Amino acid sequence: MTKQPIKMQKLVLLIPALLAALAINSCCNAAAAPVRMQLTHVDAGRGLSGRELMRRMALRSKARAPRLLSSSATAPVSPGAYDDGVPMTEYLLHLAIGTPPQPVQLTLDTGSDLVWTQCQPCAVCFNQSLPYYDASRSSTFALPSCDSTQCKLDPSVTMCVNQTVQTCAFSYSYGDKSATIGFLDVETVSFVAGASVPGVVFGCGLNNTGIFRSNETGIAGFGRGPLSLPSQLKVGNFSHCFTAVSGRKPSTVLFDLPADLYKNGRGTVQTTPLIKNPAHPTFYYLSLKGITVGSTRLPVPESAFALKNGTGGTIIDSGTAFTSLPPRVYRLVHDEFAAHVKLPVVPSNETGPLLCFSAPPLGKAPHVPKLVLHFEGATMHLPRENYVFEAKDGGNCSICLAIIEGEMTIIGNFQQQNMHVLYDLKNSKLSFVRAKCDKL
Ligand SMILES: *[C@@H]1O[C@H](CO)[C@@H](O)[C@H](O)[C@H]1NC(C)=O
Ligand SMILES: *[C@@H]1O[C@H](CO)[C@@H](O)[C@H](O)[C@H]1NC(C)=O
Ligand SMILES: *[C@@H]1O[C@H](CO)[C@@H](O)[C@H](O)[C@H]1NC(C)=O
Ligand SMILES: *[C@@H]1O[C@H](CO)[C@@H](O)[C@H](O)[C@H]1NC(C)=O
Ligand SMILES: *[C@@H]1O[C@H](CO)[C@@H](O)[C@H](O)[C@H]1NC(C)=O
Ligand SMILES: *[C@@H]1O[C@H](CO)[C@@H](O)[C@H](O)[C@H]1NC(C)=O
Ligand SMILES: *[C@@H]1O[C@H](CO)[C@@H](O)[C@H](O)[C@H]1NC(C)=O
Ligand SMILES: *[C@@H]1O[C@H](CO)[C@@H](O)[C@H](O)[C@H]1NC(C)=O
Repeated sequence: MTKQPIKMQKLVLLIPALLAALAINSCCNAAAAPVRMQLTHVDAGRGLSGRELMRRMALRSKARAPRLLSSSATAPVSPGAYDDGVPMTEYLLHLAIGTPPQPVQLTLDTGSDLVWTQCQPCAVCFNQSLPYYDASRSSTFALPSCDSTQCKLDPSVTMCVNQTVQTCAFSYSYGDKSATIGFLDVETVSFVAGASVPGVVFGCGLNNTGIFRSNETGIAGFGRGPLSLPSQLKVGNFSHCFTAVSGRKPSTVLFDLPADLYKNGRGTVQTTPLIKNPAHPTFYYLSLKGITVGSTRLPVPESAFALKNGTGGTIIDSGTAFTSLPPRVYRLVHDEFAAHVKLPVVPSNETGPLLCFSAPPLGKAPHVPKLVLHFEGATMHLPRENYVFEAKDGGNCSICLAIIEGEMTIIGNFQQQNMHVLYDLKNSKLSFVRAKCDKL
């Protein structure tokens, strides 16, 4: 999921009623703290069949990915991206806001910055399984004034809607046209492990529209901008380790993780530079150089993946499910993959945007070619389960390549399962190493 700026609109209408009721406290600065947090996959416990899960993730990636960075993009959201009218998200971060703590479940999103949750008294809220955050029940809640540093952290997101009462409002939207409007809050955020951090700026969403699922109450931006959780906590690094999407085991997010914990992975730690793009300061860009399918390094010029005048390029995004590749590159991967797999291709109207093969129900797992991503200074040998989705469907079995076509290259979370991914913000590097994420 990626952030896309929109114009501020109609903020003024929403705010005043709530403000009157609230005591305004002063706020404090965020302090760094080593913290461990738990994540669950949004579909955990829903008992979806493998095929359903795959279809949903693919359609949702498809719906989100193309809209990313094209400023003109206005493609409608594919209806397939919804689950009975309720759309899907990915890994949920379990946190609590306020004193006493009120639980929230936020989608972990390295493709956006703002941290927000739905708030009382909500004007336009989607259904959620937890109660809405209620500032009037918190003793640590504060509203930053328009002139505060908090309100000025990211002027592209906030604006003063009423100079007289100094209301700092925000408006934030995503690549899929989901949007939230509300006012900024300063609060104490507590983590499941017990640590709590005062003075965290987050969005109190009063008008939240678009693609959300009832398991999430908002989004936790982990991007590079000043409003993101890692930026506010001033951590030097953070990491996530996603357990299998089809499983139920919780995943882990760590702030300022000790170097020795990181070294516990299986195999050699690979490290590649994190690149900045001033045109999209939120995103973590990587320099992807090439792709190998089987034993063939595809004949793709490096320029196909490169950032050109602020557009294109490759980003890594925890809020997108499947990796997407630009059409020309995708076609090469598709064809090379299909050439290696000696099975009938399932018609694409049954598999959404994925390339799938029909396999006999019994017998050993069909052969698929290796898939390797070559980054500057790092090689990502994807384990089979990170690019092949196997789904039982009636008596048959579908073997699908979990990669889609998109406008740019996005490394999605499916490709990051059981990989410990370290964002070394201090040194602008990204490292990854295979790991058993349920044992971290
Ligand atoms: C929200 O949930 C309530 C109770 O489960 C239900 O009655 C209502 O129709 C739901 N609203 C929407 C918009 O889904
Ligand atoms: C600002 O808030 C004050 C106090 O609620 C109100 O009287 C005034 O009309 C508001 N101004 C605008 C421009 O909304
Ligand atoms: C909520 O926001 C949308 C745009 O995101 C706007 O069209 C709508 O009028 C807003 N609703 C209210 C009640 O302000
Ligand atoms: C997500 O929602 C489903 C159905 O509403 C529920 O069974 C499941 O436990 C929820 N998962 C989490 C992590 O809250
Ligand atoms: C993460 O940051 C902490 C604090 O700055 C540092 O001690 C630790 O070595 C870093 N971890 C890694 C894996 O670089
Ligand atoms: C680069 O992008 C900027 C802003 O989008 C535009 O004004 C400029 O013409 C572009 N330059 C080239 C060489 O495409
Ligand atoms: C897919 O397309 C084929 C040929 O056009 C058609 O026979 C089949 O019924 C379609 N399947 C589905 C699930 O729509
Ligand atoms: C399994 O695949 C065969 C051959 O592709 C097809 O004829 C059959 O209808 C499929 N069965 C189910 C349950 O989808």
